[in-house]
Amino acid sequence: MSALFEGLQLGELRLKHRVVLAPLTRFRADRKTLVPTELMKEYYTQRATEGGLLITEATCISPEGLPDNNVPGIWTKEQTQGWKKIVDSVHAKGGLISVQLWHTGRMAHETMRDHPMADPERLPTVSASDVTAPGKTGGTLSGEIDTYSKPRPLREDEIPRLLEDYKRAARNAREAGFDAVELHAAHGYLIDQFLNDNTNKRSDKYGGSIENRCRLLREAVEAISEEMPLSRVGVRISPQFEGTMRFFGASDSNPLELYTTAIKTLDQYNLAYLLLTEPRWFGGKFDKDHSKDPGFSMGLYNPSKFRHLYRGPIIGAGGFTPLTAPDAVHNGHYDAIGFGRWFISNPDLVHRIQQKLPLNKYVRETFYKHGSPDGYVDYPFYEDADKSALVPQEKIGASLESAKL
Ligand SMILES: Cc1cc2nc3c(=O)[nH]c(=O)nc-3n(C[C@H](O)[C@H](O)[C@H](O)COP(=O)(O)O)c2cc1C
Repeated sequence: MSALFEGLQLGELRLKHRVVLAPLTRFRADRKTLVPTELMKEYYTQRATEGGLLITEATCISPEGLPDNNVPGIWTKEQTQGWKKIVDSVHAKGGLISVQLWHTGRMAHETMRDHPMADPERLPTVSASDVTAPGKTGGTLSGEIDTYSKPRPLREDEIPRLLEDYKRAARNAREAGFDAVELHAAHGYLIDQFLNDNTNKRSDKYGGSIENRCRLLREAVEAISEEMPLSRVGVRISPQFEGTMRFFGASDSNPLELYTTAIKTLDQYNLAYLLLTEPRWFGGKFDKDHSKDPGFSMGLYNPSKFRHLYRGPIIGAGGFTPLTAPDAVHNGHYDAIGFGRWFISNPDLVHRIQQKLPLNKYVRETFYKHGSPDGYVDYPFYEDADKSALVPQEKIGASLESAKL
């Protein structure tokens, strides 16, 4: 039997298999209220399986740091009730669901100041320091503004308020019936902006030494744990190294030491799980045939550096294929595998992996199609798929040579 189909205990969560839905922002929440929609319920329910873990898209903990329209929130009653319908529907299929808690920090979009859910007192957005994110915004807002704006450094006396926001989100998650919450501390968002030294220039107790830069991570975990037991709390972080994936310009002069300390810090808590992003290079170039995206052919970075530092279960995500995922579990590199893109295009991915059935290809253009069912709930289940359009599992991934395109 494939290692992916053995049971697994993640804190209080009992999984029957190890194919996890990775968190995926899809912009299908209600545009004005940021309440989860019926469409989202259909999407998550399609992907729910008996004893399978779904992790939701990043979900805003407050009106601070709103990145765009159509992302869900979990700070209002209405948003919480919207999530409850999704949770109930996933539970009805025997599935488990964890909600990813998000504060984007400097990745907020300035035009969200005009959004009905914006709070003028929470503008401009905050970060560790006033370092503007490079590049262009990926959002599809009306805006003439397509670069990131300069954030305001969060004052030390405001941090208790931020921690209250995390607590409220965790409380609402519990009320909505979520099995777990996941702190999004990865990918260049607020907590990662505190971790990395090119975004954190502070001289107070949240800046300077690596221990200080890990302080907010620790305090956020502790704040959340006041509302959700640690055995139902996960954390995502995204180690990165020279020449690997960078997230929105956040980087560190000594990433190995930084992420070693962060992981050792998290090891002190008895978390349900740690989710690590594999920083596989993708170079921004994609093959026309997405099954050949270069990241699918590159090796793992994290296990050799971090596995021995962390005693609890670790989920890996980023560039796994149906063929490489079982090996990663079998070899003890990871305890479970989060799938992103292949789970977008295959609502029945768990079944297809188990039965070694070919997969629907994903369509990148519809990943972020605001409010639209296209490319969201209309990918066929295997029985209904046009078999000539499917990609065999063993054809996913290219040679390392082509990964260096
Ligand atoms: C459309 C899209 C949206 C994503 N949104 C999130 C998100 O909200 N939170 C998060 O932690 N990661 C997010 N990610 C990263 C995924 O969780 C995952 O790490 C990534 O897709 C790589 O895994 P894959 O190779 O299986 O696709 C997103 C990725 C994609 C493609």
